[in-house]
Amino acid sequence: MSKVVSVINQKGGVAKTTTSINVAASWSKMGKKVLLVDLDPQSSATHSIFGEREFESTVYDVLVNRVEAKQAIYSSKDFGFDVMPAEILLSGVDIQLAAHYGRERLLKKAIDTVKRKYDVVIVDCSPSLGLLTVNALLASKEVIIPICPEYFSLKGIELILDTINNLRTGLGHKVEVRGIVITRYRNRKITNDVIQKVRDEIGVKVFSNYIPDNISVEEAHHRHVPVNKYAPSSKGAKAYAALSEELWV
Ligand SMILES: Nc1ncnc2c1ncn2[C@@H]1O[C@H](COP(=O)(O)OP(=O)(O)OP(=O)(O)O)[C@@H](O)[C@H]1O
Ligand SMILES: [Mg+2]
Repeated sequence: MSKVVSVINQKGGVAKTTTSINVAASWSKMGKKVLLVDLDPQSSATHSIFGEREFESTVYDVLVNRVEAKQAIYSSKDFGFDVMPAEILLSGVDIQLAAHYGRERLLKKAIDTVKRKYDVVIVDCSPSLGLLTVNALLASKEVIIPICPEYFSLKGIELILDTINNLRTGLGHKVEVRGIVITRYRNRKITNDVIQKVRDEIGVKVFSNYIPDNISVEEAHHRHVPVNKYAPSSKGAKAYAALSEELWV
């Protein structure tokens, strides 16, 4: 049975996209059939994977123009998985769909039509908790939350957990928070203190494989390949491989 996992954090630049892409690539290397949905108007995942390529249909067309999900799926040989790309027009969906009944469940409906083909669907969310992220949450059974540990991280996580709780009470949808992924980790006292505080104060698992701050992870985006292809023996590639194993169970 396929599962749908969203990667969320309303804070920008915490490695949601980097984590989505590299976990998807590791899972596909593990033999899983993976679909990555880019649900961010910035389209960072789409650009990282495909460069400047243009698409006939994107997730925007699926949500707004009722294009069938299967028409908006493209495979990437280098990454080993399928992608539903994004485009900047997505930034207008909150307003475009404001009067649309059932607007919170459009992504779920779309994913339901294709998910039997996949072991897992991973949704890379934008840094917001608006309609797009609500669509991701309602389509998902599980979420993972990447954080770059810093002083402000705790408040951010609390806000996400509140949003998820509100969906449970408001729309009756239960999502399991699988855990927190520590990204861009540097072994410093101040960072370790924040991680300890997250462990002590937030009742959510912190995955034991941290992703180190590692230049290969960043360079891989520019080469349009996952880090496990760009620099297989780098610390970043090894950490993403180990995290992906930890996440799969
Ligand atoms: N482990 C890492 N080591 C070094 N650089 C990293 C690492 N992870 C992510 N980065 C870099 O940090 C920046 C932000 O990462 P990314 O785009 O994945 O974050 P994001 O949470 O998806 O951002 P946004 O909120 O804008 O969608 C990128 O330039 C990326 O290359
Ligand atoms: Mg992103």
